[in-house]
This record gives sequence, structure tokens and C-alpha cells, in this order.
Amino acid sequence: MSTKKIRTTDILKAKNQKKLVCTTCYDSIFAKVLQDSSSLDLVLVGDSLGHIVQGNHTTLDVTLENIIYHTKCVKNSLKTPLLVSDMPFLGMSTDTATLFENCQKILVAGAEAIKIEGHHPHLCDQISLLTGYGVPVMGHLGLTPQHIHSLGGYKKQGKTPKSSEILMDAAKRLEDAGCFGIVLELIDFEVSQKITESITIPTIGIGSGPYCDGQILVLHDLLGMNTEFTPSFLKLYETLHLKIDTALKTFAHEVQNEIFPPKT
Ligand code: KIV
Repeated sequence: MSTKKIRTTDILKAKNQKKLVCTTCYDSIFAKVLQDSSSLDLVLVGDSLGHIVQGNHTTLDVTLENIIYHTKCVKNSLKTPLLVSDMPFLGMSTDTATLFENCQKILVAGAEAIKIEGHHPHLCDQISLLTGYGVPVMGHLGLTPQHIHSLGGYKKQGKTPKSSEILMDAAKRLEDAGCFGIVLELIDFEVSQKITESITIPTIGIGSGPYCDGQILVLHDLLGMNTEFTPSFLKLYETLHLKIDTALKTFAHEVQNEIFPPKT
């Protein structure tokens, strides 16, 4: 059981040494469970909270304030894994002062790094500026959910030679911009392998095959709490939905039949 604090430098050093284990978290009670389990390298306050916490169909409604709030909820109970928070949709303001202010708010809330979706040349310049000023940034390529409407739906990326070339180039540019890692989401397995082999920073895959340097799954998905989300890449490590259902039915039965609370 490791209690050593994991930092961005440890994530970088893990490349070709060990597979990185990552998940999401949005609240304090789960953060405590994750901390106690001591099995994670990196925890993400992802804008997937739009689905999991807010019940929305996309991540587009998630605000900077939401990310700040949930980062604060997680940070006090999570000590060892690196805590990364998402920059929400269009949080990368073109105004540098606002951009710095947004990043500062996320870091002051407790994040130790910021994940930024996309690879537009202007975005890579902004990432380069941020990393130059000491803001640790993790990239995110492939099926970037914030771009769901421009990508035309939730579908695998990198399936044509042209799109695979764009992704390879983007990964290199994010590395050059100073990212300490890149999430590869729903990318053709061969392409994510090529990306992983062509850059010196770790890749963290989700639905992108076994050749990435690490894997991330949304916590509530891997625990089997979200019965509506069953993509083929997901492995259920538990079926908590069923366990909670059984517990609640037992509670209801005992209250209705005056078994709980006991009379003596
Ligand atoms: O928002 C999120 O949780 C993510 C992960 C699925 C990588 O971006």
C-alpha cells in the first residue's frame, strides 16, 4: 500500500515503467474510498460530472463553478493520487488574463493539474503559455466529448489514414506544448498504439485499447452504477446498482413490517 504523494513528475516517469491507473471522482465520500484503496495514480474531476452528477446528455452545461465546487469536494479526502480537474467547455478564454484567472481558480480549488480537450493550433499555443507559467496540463484527444456536435456523435476516431495522421500530429504538438500526459478517448487501437510509441509522455486510454500507458474509466461506470451507459469498451468491476437496489428493498421491507428500528 503506497502512501507516497503522486505528482506530475511521477506520471511522466511512469512511461514504459508501469501502467497508470486512473478514475474519476466528484465528491468527498468516494474520494475517501479511493484514498483508502491506495490503488490509483491519478484521479480526475471530469466534466463527465455533467452526466453522472447532473444527469445531462452532454458535458456542455458543466461550468467553471461546477468544476471548482467538485474539486473542493474531492480534495480534502484525496491525498495520494494526482488530482486533475477538467477545464470546462470554452473555459480556454482567448483573453489571456481570463484564461489565467480560470486556471488559477481551478488550481486554488485543489487541482494539481488541468485537463484540456482538443488540439486546435491556437489551443496548443495557449497550453504552451500555461505550461511555461507553471500550470501542469494534461491533453485529451480523440472523441473529446466537449466537441460532440462538431465530431458528429460518439464514434471511434482515427479510423481513416487522414484522421489518424491528424491525431498523431496533435499528440506531438501537445507534447511539445509541455503536457505531462494525454488522454486518448475512443481512438482506433492501432492509432493509439502508434501515438503511445511516438511520444515521450504517457497516454491514458479510455476505449482506445491495451497499448496506452495507462487506463481511465469513469468511477460510476466501472462500479456498475450507471445502467444506461454500457459501451463495449466498459468492464463492470461491480454491479453496485443491483446491490443498492437490494439494500433499499430490504430497508423498505423492514420499515413497512416494523422490523427496523427494533422495539427493544
Ligand atoms: O470527463 C471525464 O471524466 C473524462 C474522462 C472520461 C477521461 O474526460
